[in-house]
Amino acid sequence: MVLKLVIFGSGRGSNFEAIQQSIENRKLNAEIQAIVVDNPNAKMIEKARNKKLDVIIVDKNQFSNREEQEKEIIKKLEKYDYDLIALAGYMRILSSKFIEEIKHPIINIHPALLPSFPGLHAQRQALDAGVKISGCTVHIVDESVDGGKILGQKAVEIQDNDTEDSLSDRILVYEHILYSEILNKIEKGIIDLNK
Ligand code: GRF
Repeated sequence: MVLKLVIFGSGRGSNFEAIQQSIENRKLNAEIQAIVVDNPNAKMIEKARNKKLDVIIVDKNQFSNREEQEKEIIKKLEKYDYDLIALAGYMRILSSKFIEEIKHPIINIHPALLPSFPGLHAQRQALDAGVKISGCTVHIVDESVDGGKILGQKAVEIQDNDTEDSLSDRILVYEHILYSEILNKIEKGIIDLNK
């Protein structure tokens, strides 16, 4: 069964592109129904429009608070038929009200081996802590910050001369592989999000 996705992002959109590529290459049996972006300058918007995908822009600066913005997202998503929301660089924490009301599972990708280094600047946190291995994690989104059930991870070795940028670049390569792998397992029923 085709896995119907809505992807949320705020910026560059490389994880979105990697998922889109996996679909185009028939490595992932999925369809992207819409893209939700909270930043009108996000590069992801043009990338999605080039693929003729529906783009929903909910500029966070146009709403008095997060609740109003989330209400608008819920309203705009009503007409779409989808199974799952995949956060890909979406920079705003979703409220528990939103998570409850949306009635579909939500997953996220994070550039560290959770539960280590949740939140912002995960790659810098790993360097500051002096760990020798970091990586990326796909997890279920719940009301905690990057604390939901872990669905899959990939490890990346940290090198002595790594900077935040070099480490981020190397982790990103694995993010792109991991996200499609996990979505594929969800589509095939190997991962059951309800358990
Ligand atoms: C990725 O590193 C992701 O793990 C983090 O934000 C970044 C988004 O990159 N949550 P992109 O927009 O997918 O290129």
